[in-house]
Amino acid sequence: LTVDWELNSAGKNGYPFYMEKEIMEQPEAIENTIKNRIVGGMPDFTADGVPDTLFTECEHICIVACGTAMHAGLVAQALVKSILHMHIEVQMASEFMYSDPVIDEKTLVIAVSQSGETIDTLEAVKYAKNRGAKCLAIINVKGSSIARESDYVLYTNAGPEIAVASTKAYTTQLAVFYLIVARMAHSRGVFDDAQTQSFVRELQRTPEVMKKVLERRRDIHVVAKKVLGAKDLFMIGRGLDYSILLEGSLKLKEVSYIHSEAYASGELKHGPIALITQDTPVVATVTQEKLMSKELSNIKEVKSRGADVVVFIKESIVGDLAKEYEIFTLPDMQDEFMVLPASVALQLLAYYVSSDKGFDVDKPRNLAKVVTVE
Ligand code: AGP
Repeated sequence: LTVDWELNSAGKNGYPFYMEKEIMEQPEAIENTIKNRIVGGMPDFTADGVPDTLFTECEHICIVACGTAMHAGLVAQALVKSILHMHIEVQMASEFMYSDPVIDEKTLVIAVSQSGETIDTLEAVKYAKNRGAKCLAIINVKGSSIARESDYVLYTNAGPEIAVASTKAYTTQLAVFYLIVARMAHSRGVFDDAQTQSFVRELQRTPEVMKKVLERRRDIHVVAKKVLGAKDLFMIGRGLDYSILLEGSLKLKEVSYIHSEAYASGELKHGPIALITQDTPVVATVTQEKLMSKELSNIKEVKSRGADVVVFIKESIVGDLAKEYEIFTLPDMQDEFMVLPASVALQLLAYYVSSDKGFDVDKPRNLAKVVTVE
């Protein structure tokens, strides 16, 4: 799949890079992902031809994907465990076939892929189908190989994603997962109508919340200038914050070439904190109220060892943290939805570092938009 850069260059709508255009398009992309899948305030996949039995008859779920798509799967895993209390695992597609996965006719395999052509993910779907699993694909490119190979498809409708670094595909994959979780919770009797509609209403707030982050992108550009010279950078958080940072760290790595590493912040003291020295840049996200106190104590740990910390924190819990740290407040959503505004902020961080370094943000060295080799 080669992108005709000249042909597509007209498609930048005046932005210097596709990545910025695609970050800015996310509120509209999310709208396009969810608008035809909510009927009477309830998640509805009738138009997609995805039956409820797919969600009621499975006993466990396996998500297979690569890179950013796999990170979307990690968020879905947290939601399925916390809301549905179901067995679920996320497997890197490149590891899947070699890890003796426990797959049978009671397994729902969900393959996530922007391009629908990633060979590792395609091979994983074929492997799973040969073992009797039902396969649902979450795909952006219509009619792609993984879409054709799967039993059912939910398209993200994000529009063409040209930049190698995936942004709107990721957040629209998340939007589809929120609808799947709501649908599953209702059809399995975990959510009643009111709970389902309330969950969906929070998802429907996403475009307006994302716009609040996008409106303050200049503030993120200021933060980006602080890490411009970094060689190594740590991103620390717990629970969903850790999943958010795995993706934020990949973004920064792939477009700015800074060696960024995401750590579950409770894990730091088991080794990685040995790497924290004076002025080591650390990015922390604090978006999960139940984990806040632990996350703040981990932030204090790295700060006391000289780290230069910036904290992306949910607006309503910031308190007087600004007295101690450089902070960027994130507009409020319910905790399990905070990955959406937080991801936009971290995408912008990566984008500004890369563009300020003068790199070709859309075509990072060594990378291809679609990985069709194993
Ligand atoms: C993400 O920014 C990268 N470009 C890469 O990790 C990508 O997510 C991965 O290769 C999977 O691609 P897919 O979604 O098209 O399957």
